[in-house]
Amino acid sequence: MSDTSAPQTTFETRLQAVARDVAAMLDELLAETSLPGEIARPQRLVAAMRHGALNGGKRLRPFLTAETARLFGAEGRGVLRAACAVELVHCYSLVHDDLPAMDDDDLRRGQPTVHRAFDEATAILAGDSLLTLAFDVMADEATHADPRVRAALVLGLARASGLGGMAGGQMLDLAAEASMTPHTVDEITRLQAMKTGALLRFAVEAGAIIAGAAPDQTAKLIAYGEALGAAFQVADDILDAESSEEALGKKVGKDAGRNKATLINAIGIDAAKARRDDLAAQAQQALAGFGEAAHILAEAARFTAARRN
Ligand code: IPE
Ligand code: IPE
Ligand code: MG
Ligand code: MG
Ligand code: MG
Repeated sequence: MSDTSAPQTTFETRLQAVARDVAAMLDELLAETSLPGEIARPQRLVAAMRHGALNGGKRLRPFLTAETARLFGAEGRGVLRAACAVELVHCYSLVHDDLPAMDDDDLRRGQPTVHRAFDEATAILAGDSLLTLAFDVMADEATHADPRVRAALVLGLARASGLGGMAGGQMLDLAAEASMTPHTVDEITRLQAMKTGALLRFAVEAGAIIAGAAPDQTAKLIAYGEALGAAFQVADDILDAESSEEALGKKVGKDAGRNKATLINAIGIDAAKARRDDLAAQAQQALAGFGEAAHILAEAARFTAARRN
C-alpha cells in the first residue's frame, strides 16, 4: 500500500534534482579529455563552453524532457543525456544571443557573458561547439539503444533549433528590431514560437520520443509544450519590463531600449499578462488526459507564468 502520509513530490524538488543531475552530466561532457574521433579539445574553448553551460540557469528544458519521459516510466542515463542535449542547444543560443552583433549583453546568469569573460571569436566558437556537442550527445548509442529513436531525437532537435525554428526566429527578432513598422500580434506570436517556443516544445517531445509514447499521447504533450513555450517568452518579456537585474541575473529594460517586437509593445503589459496566464492555463488543459500523473508538468506550466526569474 502506498504511504499517503509521504509528502507529494513537487515541481521545485524535481526541478532541483534534474538541475543537479544535468550539471553533473554537463561537467562530464565538457571535460578536457577528447572523445574517440576527436583530435584535441583546446583548453580555452573548453573553458568558454563551461562558462556558458555550467553557470547556473533554471534548467527548465532538461526538466521538461526528464519529467515527460518519467510520465511513461522512462528514467536513467539515456533520458538525462537527451535532456542535456536540449540544454546544450539552449546554452549555445544564449551565448550567441548575447553577442554584440545580436542583443549585445554583458550579463547572463549573474556573470559576465561569454564574449565578455573571453572574447567574441571564442564566444562564437563556444556556441558552435555547444550546438555541435548537443547532436553528438543525442546521436550516441548511450542515449538510446534503438537507432530509430536516436534518429528521431536528432531530427526533432535539428528542426527545433535551425532555420525554421530557433535560428529562424532569432533572424525575425533582429529584423523586427530594425523595422520602423509595428508588428502585429500574429507576427510576434510566430516569431516567439520560433525563437523560444520551438526548443521548449521539443524538450517535451523528446521525453515522449525517448519513452516510446503513443502518437495520441505525444500529440497532447506537444500541445502542452507549445502553449508553455509561448507563455515562457511572454513571461520573459514581462520580466524584462518589470523585474530587476538582481532577480534575473541579466540586464532589464533591454527590449524597450532595443525596439524589440514584444507583446508588451503591441497590446500593453496588462493584456500581455492576461495572455501569458491564458497560455499557461492552455498548457495545463492539454494535460487533462494524463490525470494526477502529470501534476508536476502542470505545476511547471504554472511556474512558467508566475516565475520571478
Ligand atoms: C532565457 O531562457 C532565454 C529565453 C529563451 C527567453 P531561460 O530563462 O530559461 O534562461 P536560464 O537557462 O534559466 O538562464
Ligand atoms: C532569447 O530571447 C531567445 C534565444 C536565446 C533563442 P531574449 O533575447 O529575450 O532572451 P534574454 O532576455 O536575452 O534572456
Ligand atoms: Mg534576443
Ligand atoms: Mg537577449
Ligand atoms: Mg528577454
